[in-house]
Amino acid sequence: MGICVIIYSLNVFCSRILKNGDDVESDKLEKGIGDLMVGIIQKREKLTTGEGNSYGSDFLGLLLNARKDAPGNYKLSLKDIIDECKTFYGAGQGTTSILLSWTVLLLAIHTDWQDKAREEVLRIFGQQNPTSEGIARLRTMNMIFSETLRLYPPADVLTRKVQRKVRLGKLILPANMNVNIPLLALHHDPKIWGKDAHLFNPERFSEGVPKATSNNPAAYIPFGLGPRNCVGMNFATNEAKIALTMILQHYKFTLSPNYIHSPIHMVLVRPQHGVRLFKSSDDIEAKKIEQEIYDTLMAIIKKNEGDDKRSRQLWKRFPWITNKSKPRC
Ligand code: HEM
Repeated sequence: MGICVIIYSLNVFCSRILKNGDDVESDKLEKGIGDLMVGIIQKREKLTTGEGNSYGSDFLGLLLNARKDAPGNYKLSLKDIIDECKTFYGAGQGTTSILLSWTVLLLAIHTDWQDKAREEVLRIFGQQNPTSEGIARLRTMNMIFSETLRLYPPADVLTRKVQRKVRLGKLILPANMNVNIPLLALHHDPKIWGKDAHLFNPERFSEGVPKATSNNPAAYIPFGLGPRNCVGMNFATNEAKIALTMILQHYKFTLSPNYIHSPIHMVLVRPQHGVRLFKSSDDIEAKKIEQEIYDTLMAIIKKNEGDDKRSRQLWKRFPWITNKSKPRC
């Protein structure tokens, strides 16, 4: 026992003063990220006068304005600002892009839902850019995102540290214990979701979370729960809705046979080999334009049918029309 303690202590001691290849690489990366951020912050500080809210209204601008206005002890340090930027980038960027990846995968398989979502998008926005008023009306898309977050929550485990001894149901939890809450298990439990718990069925969210969870909303927590839940929830949902709206306005897609289904936990649950898609038809807008050009040309040709010389010229310029093949624009 004594020897074990000595070996363990020696190991801890050595690992503090000696670094292996991974430690060195990780220090290098951390310094690189820190330097990059200092560069961005300094550039922003140089660009502005520092008066009023002149550092800008984006996230970095708000932090710099807050630092300027705060009294002495409450001032954010440069390190605080760098840490905040890292947190928001880390918590906000990967999560939302992974949500979009899983959603596009599911819509590529369930093309009936892809069509429903596109119908809704075209009804609300046509080919115009999404507006905040319209985003609030995307009911079908909301159901699709809810179901995707149920099946593939990017963060699959929540952790809480027990501050003092508490009773949790039949269990007594001692202080300082870490409790892991497995989102995936909750989100896939047939007792809560029914027999089709493992299937993609956005319809289950048609009447909201309480109905979908049989009045047990704490069983659905892709953004966490309680006072420390995700602060970026609304931002992420709006961002994802804008992106998916614009994707659906321009593309139809199906799954490539080369796609390999392999969800992997690397900080977040992500598709290990990405999501490979086929554009099942070309850009919808381009198709519309193609059709318009085709119709116009056909009309011109019809009008000139009696005029042999002009007709010949037209046939020469647009040979694909004579073949009755599809136009290639
Ligand atoms: C689909 C996208 C997202 C998902 C699924 C997600 C999920 C989560 C989850 C599960 C937590 C832990 C909550 C808890 O422990 O109860 C969390 C925390 C957090 N999220 Fe998100 N998040 C997303 C997007 C974002 C975005 C876009 C931002 C920032 C712009 C963000 C910022 C944060 C921050 C700062 C925390 C820590 C909150 C705290 O500890 O008080 N998240 N998120």
